[in-house]
Amino acid sequence: MSKLIVVSNRVSLPHSDQPSAGGLAVALHDALNEIGGVWLGWNGTQVEDGQASVFEHVECGQVEYITCPLQHVHYRKYYCGFANNTLWPAMHDRADLIVFKNDEYEAYQQVNYLFAQKLAQIAEPDDVIWIHDYHFFSMARYCRELGMHNKIGFFLHIPFAPIDMWQMLPRASALIEDLHDYDVIGLQTENDQKNCMQVCTSLLKAMQINAHLISYKSHLTTIKCYPIGIHPDSIQELSIKTDQSVQAMLNKPLAQKTIIGVERIDYSKGLLQRFDALADFLTHYPHYQTQLTALQIACPCRLDIQAYQDLNRSLNQQVERINRQFSRDDWQPIDYHQEVIEHDVLMQVYRAADMCWVTSLRDGMNLVAKEYIAAQNPLDPGVLILSKYAGAAEQMSAALIVDPLDPVDMREALKTAMEMSKAERIQRYQQLIKGLYQFDINDWRNQFLWDLMHNHQLFEHCIKQPIHRTAHIVF
Ligand code: UDP
Ligand code: G6P
Repeated sequence: MSKLIVVSNRVSLPHSDQPSAGGLAVALHDALNEIGGVWLGWNGTQVEDGQASVFEHVECGQVEYITCPLQHVHYRKYYCGFANNTLWPAMHDRADLIVFKNDEYEAYQQVNYLFAQKLAQIAEPDDVIWIHDYHFFSMARYCRELGMHNKIGFFLHIPFAPIDMWQMLPRASALIEDLHDYDVIGLQTENDQKNCMQVCTSLLKAMQINAHLISYKSHLTTIKCYPIGIHPDSIQELSIKTDQSVQAMLNKPLAQKTIIGVERIDYSKGLLQRFDALADFLTHYPHYQTQLTALQIACPCRLDIQAYQDLNRSLNQQVERINRQFSRDDWQPIDYHQEVIEHDVLMQVYRAADMCWVTSLRDGMNLVAKEYIAAQNPLDPGVLILSKYAGAAEQMSAALIVDPLDPVDMREALKTAMEMSKAERIQRYQQLIKGLYQFDINDWRNQFLWDLMHNHQLFEHCIKQPIHRTAHIVF
């Protein structure tokens, strides 16, 4: 019987004492749990250079986890290097932060090959393979070189940069050429889909057959947008529980309203601009001092990379400065938690917060925006402020859409959110939640896998043909 094999660098391992802060791990966990399969990737640890990669197999429910450590050199050059210091800034419109080193590119290729070898060992000819994110642009090429003829799909969780960025990136043509060994390439937004199509046709001169199909060296690749979703019902269910740690966290600020922010400490998230906007808001509208607290869950991330260390330092200084400037005896504007919160518990925190802000400067989708809406009390929902640069903004038009680079826009959006009537909150919420049900995480998985398998008979016992839903819905 054929099975699904998912590959990603980050794996959400069962019973791990470290919860994952990252949309990919959360989404794949939800998408795989229901139908079962194999999840292959990095276990998050490192071993000495030269030590052979020993894969560990763990079964939990319907999922078999196969993971290995990375050699220290690969952690430094592949993970901290080409993946997160070259590709990540390039895809997030930060040309100024791109560092390219040839040996890091080589390490990236070695790690792609390492996981491709493991895939070749464990995959049966009729298994369906779904590879995730920018860590593995080249993996399908190695799979083909190792003789695999399986259906291989690729989903990019982050933005796909426009052509001018790819033109600046060393080894871009080789990476894009490698993408053509995938059968389906999935992107988060229509805009990413257009960028990908344009880069493939102009950089490689691949032939465009129709809006979603290209041909290169006689191989056909589908390039389509599948906006990632969530499970609205299970989030609603989790949000109404009452965990004591949540009560403790929420009882601290004495302000009347709370705005929540939840992100990895990443320069793509616009955290510095956000807190500047908060300070500006409190200065411009002083009567709101003591009335509003910004509860920030800031998850430490990639701290072995200079750009992340710098941001972390700047953020700590900024939060301290703003809190010092405005604090009163029993109130300070920013309640800063530098930690990762259990995903289930987070849903309760969302529900308790009157507002949520997602102010990314560039973001693949942003699941926090969707989760916040799904966790709300339908009779008294909160307000979502959402950056126009987050992938979610292509869909969630009933949120308060802002330009995080425009301080006045940000300040006024905060005021609008603070003052929004219950009737308007309910009306916006109803539109947003309806959209979240229309294309949820199961639709995302089913639609992608259906496109990947076409008439792959052996797999039909697991995946029902999706009712033809439009993936790109504006709500
Ligand atoms: N998350 C979590 N605990 C935290 C912070 C984040 O479980 O303390 C989860 C959050 O619920 C969401 C994901 O991490 O599912 C973040 O995904 P998003 O798409 O917003 O951003 P990314 O980190 O992938 O860029
Ligand atoms: C984003 C990426 C994921 C990554 C996550 C956390 O969501 O798209 O691939 O897993 O950030 O980053 P990390 O480097 O800790 O895996």
